[in-house]
Amino acid sequence: MVRWKLMIVVAWSLTLGALSGLAMLPGGLGRLFKGPDAGTPVARALVGGPFTLTAHDGKRVSDRDFRGKFMLVYFGFTYCPDVCPAGLQVISAALQQLGPKGEIFAPLFISVDPERDTPADLARYVQSFHPRLVGLTGTAEEIGAVAKAYRVYYKKVKDEKSTIGYTIDHTSLIYIMDPSGNYVTHFTHATPLDQMVDRLRKFL
Ligand code: NI
Repeated sequence: MVRWKLMIVVAWSLTLGALSGLAMLPGGLGRLFKGPDAGTPVARALVGGPFTLTAHDGKRVSDRDFRGKFMLVYFGFTYCPDVCPAGLQVISAALQQLGPKGEIFAPLFISVDPERDTPADLARYVQSFHPRLVGLTGTAEEIGAVAKAYRVYYKKVKDEKSTIGYTIDHTSLIYIMDPSGNYVTHFTHATPLDQMVDRLRKFL
């Protein structure tokens, strides 16, 4: 009887120990199930980071070149059939509605298809959406590192229907980073235009 009680006490304290151990992980248990909450210090620490990439005009640029502006960061690729165009269209339309005040936002399109997306391809592509949209590409390693920093998933997938033989599955979030480069919040490519305009207006 005494031994049973002891075992129960031991088991219980082990459980508590394990739980408090998990709770001490960044973000605690909640993060494991809900993902980073927008705007919390945890999310700020988890999303984003330094990068140096090649812009669509061939120049090397880093995250530091956008300090003082809110970066709108979107990852995708120029051959993307519908998701990327939808995301870029909503960003462009929102910036158009905000007018000159919207220049505090720096829209960036980072290619997850660096093998195919040359700076020249990106130049043609981004200019078809918005004159201030900056297309960024780089080596496979550079893209891998920035995608990891932004918690972006991307994977090449065989696609027989595609004329180019493959497509790329990718995260389709539009991140807002503050003028110091810290994560603030995010949208998706499916966020309605009026909702995006309202949210962006709050930063003006
Ligand atoms: Ni896409």
